[in-house]
Amino acid sequence: MRILKKHIPEITQTWRSKYGESYNEGLNFLVSAEEVVPNNLNLLIEQIMKGKPIQQLIGKWSFYNGDYFLNSDVLIPRPETECLVECIKLSNNKFKKILDMGTGSGCIAIELSKIFPKANVYGSDLSDSALLLARKNNLQTTNKVNFFKSDWFENIEGRFDLLVSNPPYIEKTKPKNRDLKFEPEVALFSEEKGLRDIRIIIMNGREYLTKNGWLFIEHGYNQSDAVASTFKKSGYQQIRHGLDLQGVRRFTYAKR
Ligand SMILES: C[S@@+](CC[C@H](N)C(=O)[O-])C[C@H]1O[C@@H](n2cnc3c(N)ncnc32)[C@H](O)[C@@H]1O
Repeated sequence: MRILKKHIPEITQTWRSKYGESYNEGLNFLVSAEEVVPNNLNLLIEQIMKGKPIQQLIGKWSFYNGDYFLNSDVLIPRPETECLVECIKLSNNKFKKILDMGTGSGCIAIELSKIFPKANVYGSDLSDSALLLARKNNLQTTNKVNFFKSDWFENIEGRFDLLVSNPPYIEKTKPKNRDLKFEPEVALFSEEKGLRDIRIIIMNGREYLTKNGWLFIEHGYNQSDAVASTFKKSGYQQIRHGLDLQGVRRFTYAKR
């Protein structure tokens, strides 16, 4: 069955009863993207009822200044990560060599390659399937990002002017939060109350930064003090916090 305009009220009703008003905008986008949604309306509604994110149903979503293919192998790019990219842009640094660790869909690295077209931009991830998708997303720009596999710093050589990461930082609780069940665990959860991967990146990052290099790292809404303390203990300078659209500290950055 094709999705026709007359079906919109039916889908909207289902969606609204499950998720409230805020999803209506996304739903309209879904319906208008007719050619990429499943032809079977019942299947679509079933997936909506199961809580499958609209971004995965469409298979594509906007991030900052680009559109990104998405699937269940990668994190759905979030608005707070757009704030992180914007902050890097506004920092007015002329970064020449950039590495995005835990690149997922490649969204941070690819957007930075547009902002800094002369820079050499790299993106690394542990997940082969994420790297596959990042390489597909990379085709949207001529200023190519080099994607490669690495367990954090394992395969990384040399120094960078900018290290950036949105690592997994959610404390593992049971049962898994309903909103997160369609995204890969490796992208979401970290030991030590969600701070283990953040600590690995901050504590090792200095060795991979040039003299005036910066590390930007995203974290949870309640982790900014712990993250700043790790930066401090590791010897970084000029430790600063960045805010999300709600004014909450959601990323922290510092100079080597
Ligand atoms: C929160 S997601 C961020 C994805 C993307 N950068 C974004 O902002 O949408 C974290 C990413 O870190 C990757 N990751 C998890 N553990 C890793 C490790 N030990 N080494 C490298 N990447 C890792 C996951 O595969 C996932 O793609």
